[in-house]
Parts: sequence; structure tokens; C-alpha cells
Amino acid sequence: MTISVLVVCLGNICRSPMGEAVLRNEALKRGITDIHIDSAGTAAAHIGEDPDERRKGVPISHSARQVRASDFTSFDYILAADVSNLRALERHVGHKEGSKATVRLWGSYLSDNKAIQDPYYGGLDGFTKVYEQCVKLSNAFLDEVAGKES
Ligand code: 4NP
Repeated sequence: MTISVLVVCLGNICRSPMGEAVLRNEALKRGITDIHIDSAGTAAAHIGEDPDERRKGVPISHSARQVRASDFTSFDYILAADVSNLRALERHVGHKEGSKATVRLWGSYLSDNKAIQDPYYGGLDGFTKVYEQCVKLSNAFLDEVAGKES
């Protein structure tokens, strides 16, 4: 069974495109190919932009887009980078109208429940941290859902 996952942050240029690419790669390493992954932002400010160039050499091809109502019916899982984006998703008209998606803080798949901090205004080390967190969170997510969905 194919599962579909939408990774969400604010601008869809830093954390969520990184999360999308890392989750796809970690799934591939496990031999999981029946997974559809996309990313989006809760804000509109960066629509159409490429992922941030500070992304640590991670190859990502994505054009930033905003979360839309249909995402809540077309994705199985919507994973928020932090609590403010989780709240924005919960307030979204698509969520209110009845969502098939499981909408969760991505960090809730680990016991520490940590947010992925916004690296936009900081230095390169912020992007390294985002990358490392995405690897851990991808594996925590795959550990939890891979058994359930097969
Ligand atoms: P992202 O990072 O949500 O991880 O894509 C940000 C990108 C842009 C802004 C904030 C966060 N901004 O304020 O423009």
C-alpha cells in the first residue's frame, strides 16, 4: 500500500524541502519505494522559489508552494516542523472541513517531541542541525508507520 506524506514548515524553502528529500532517501535505504512525499509551507511569501542554497549539498528539486485544502484529503500524513505550523494546519479550512490526514508535529515521533527550529535567519550550523534532525525524524516516522501500513 502506498502511503503519502506532506512535510510542512513556514516558507517551504528550508526545513520542509530538506525533510522531503531526507525522508525519501531514508525510505529508499530501507527499500521502501511505495511512498509519495511532498512538502509545502503554511505561508505564501516564498511561493515558486527554489530550496534555500544553504542546504548542505542535499540535492532537492522543489518549487515552494503553500498548503492547500485538498492536501488534507490527498495525504495520509501531514508532518509539521514546529508547533506554530502545527497550529496553522489545525486552523486551516481544509482541516476544519474534515481531514483524512493524520496531522502531527514531526517531532512527536520521537519521545523528546522537539520542534525543527527555523534556520532561515541563522548560520550554516542551523542547516546542519535541520539535516541531522530530519534523518532522525525520518527514521522514527518510518519505524512507526512502516509496520502499520504494510
Ligand atoms: P522554512 O524557513 O519555514 O524552514 O522554509 C523560513 C523561510 C522563510 C522565512 C521564515 C522561515 N521568512 O520569514 O521569510
